[in-house]
Amino acid sequence: MDQQTDQSGQTPLIRIENLGRTYRLGDTTIDALRSVDLMVQANEYLAIMGPSGSGKTTLMNMIGLLDTPDRGEYWLNGELVSELGDSRLAKAAQSRDRVRVPDLQSAQTAPTRCTTLRCH
Ligand SMILES: Nc1ncnc2c1ncn2[C@@H]1O[C@H](COP(=O)(O)OP(=O)(O)O)[C@@H](O)[C@H]1O
Ligand SMILES: [Mg+2]
Repeated sequence: MDQQTDQSGQTPLIRIENLGRTYRLGDTTIDALRSVDLMVQANEYLAIMGPSGSGKTTLMNMIGLLDTPDRGEYWLNGELVSELGDSRLAKAAQSRDRVRVPDLQSAQTAPTRCTTLRCH
């Protein structure tokens, strides 16, 4: 299967494989994300749930291009983010802006899919 399409031939808005992020504080390392796989289609409404410290904010920072992963791949609208230069990244950010983060407490619509992050 082409990395940029799903089984129906659609290009996912977000495709993430084996994404990992480790924070380093002096001699201490914290595996905030170990291996996340995720595919989100345009117009899909996804909830990411998990206990405090499970990596939700870290993942959202990657999806929003505010931080870069240490491991894994992220395709945003079919483009491999790690291979984008600054100007292409700025353009990719327009796709990112299609990723809305609603306040779930005021959301009227139930998510069509839920993804749970677990602490290890
Ligand atoms: N900037 C940072 N430096 C070091 N550790 C961090 C940093 N941000 C988050 N962490 C750690 O990474 C883990 C995941 O944090 P976070 O993504 O904020 O989880 P959540 O949003 O699910 O509560 C936690 O153990 C947290 O302490
Ligand atoms: Mg958080």
